[in-house]
Amino acid sequence: MLANIPPTQTVIEIKAPGGPEMLVPATRPVPEPKAGEVLIRIAAAGINRADTLQRMGRYPMPPGATDIPGLECAGTVVKLGADVTAWQPGDQVCALMVGDGYGEYAAVPAGQCLPVPKGVSLVDAGGLPETFCTVWTNVFERLRLQPGEVFLMQGGSSGIGVTAIQLAKAFGAKVLATAGSEEKCQACRDFGADVAINYRREDFVEVGKKFTEGRGVDVILDMVGGDYIPRQIDLLAREGRLGFVALMHGAKVEADFGAIQRKHLTVTGSTLRSRTVAQKSAIVAALREKVWPLWTAGKLRPFTYKTFPLAEAAEAHRLMESSAHIGKIVLVP
Ligand SMILES: NC(=O)c1ccc[n+]([C@@H]2O[C@H](COP(=O)([O-])OP(=O)(O)OC[C@H]3O[C@@H](n4cnc5c(N)ncnc54)[C@H](OP(=O)(O)O)[C@@H]3O)[C@@H](O)[C@H]2O)c1
Repeated sequence: MLANIPPTQTVIEIKAPGGPEMLVPATRPVPEPKAGEVLIRIAAAGINRADTLQRMGRYPMPPGATDIPGLECAGTVVKLGADVTAWQPGDQVCALMVGDGYGEYAAVPAGQCLPVPKGVSLVDAGGLPETFCTVWTNVFERLRLQPGEVFLMQGGSSGIGVTAIQLAKAFGAKVLATAGSEEKCQACRDFGADVAINYRREDFVEVGKKFTEGRGVDVILDMVGGDYIPRQIDLLAREGRLGFVALMHGAKVEADFGAIQRKHLTVTGSTLRSRTVAQKSAIVAALREKVWPLWTAGKLRPFTYKTFPLAEAAEAHRLMESSAHIGKIVLVP
């Protein structure tokens, strides 16, 4: 155990469902790590779109989970629960969490921690686990993206988007990405996209078909849904795969399911937060083995857009809801 663990800490709690002003500082006990957990002194915590939904009361926590938002953090291990052998006090880790990121200390299952990659700051590392776990499990495990295939990322400048662009490129795919401005399109190209599509001015179906000479794209990761759904079914190549991580334009549409049958398509989707500790730990272990070496190889770069002090979590949410950001917004206690 490292010295100087205080009995209480400052966290940001959601006073009531509503706007960013509902995020207010509060004092809570510093948790005791249970068996299999480590206590982390948080140096940085990534903000995720899901946090804004949780704040509005539209994404309730799983039963029995903490009410403090925050799906990821980076920091220093300061105390071990029973049976933890993988980490030592003093280790710098980043961690996938069910909540509690918006605080100074959090107890996290040891299997959901990753070493901070070499050359990456603690601040940048605080914004890595949620997007890397989401992209790995969806694009590579569920959608089985293969080298040489054509991948379309909808929302390419989001935290999820810049992660997916980098990983898809690193694993040998050709990458198309959509974004809502020229600046965001340039960012997608800077992160490795072969083609960036300004969806306000261009039709991604047309661009995707042109890029593949009419064949269609192999894999799409979507967070938009709604009217995008039939257009994506149209754009997919035979044996194509479509995965949803969000449905910002809505979940109910009319679509031609005959095309799914005719083209042998796979349509899937998932949520990360609802998975068990064992399932999350398996994703984290796969990341450590297959993706973390890419940091050392210089094939990935972090993507913090802006940091805010913990006490300014409301401002951080306002920025996320403005969609002006590219990459991650990170809270620093
Ligand atoms: N299912 C899961 O396990 C899981 C896990 C993590 C995140 N998510 C979801 O994934 C999404 C991204 O998360 P994040 O934290 O990275 O959020 P974020 O950075 O706020 O990204 C949201 C993005 O959506 C883009 N967008 C909005 N309308 C669009 C459209 N019509 N076409 C293309 N892009 C559009 C916005 O970019 P423009 O300004 O360019 O429109 C923005 O970049 C969120 O909806 C989140 O809830 C799901």
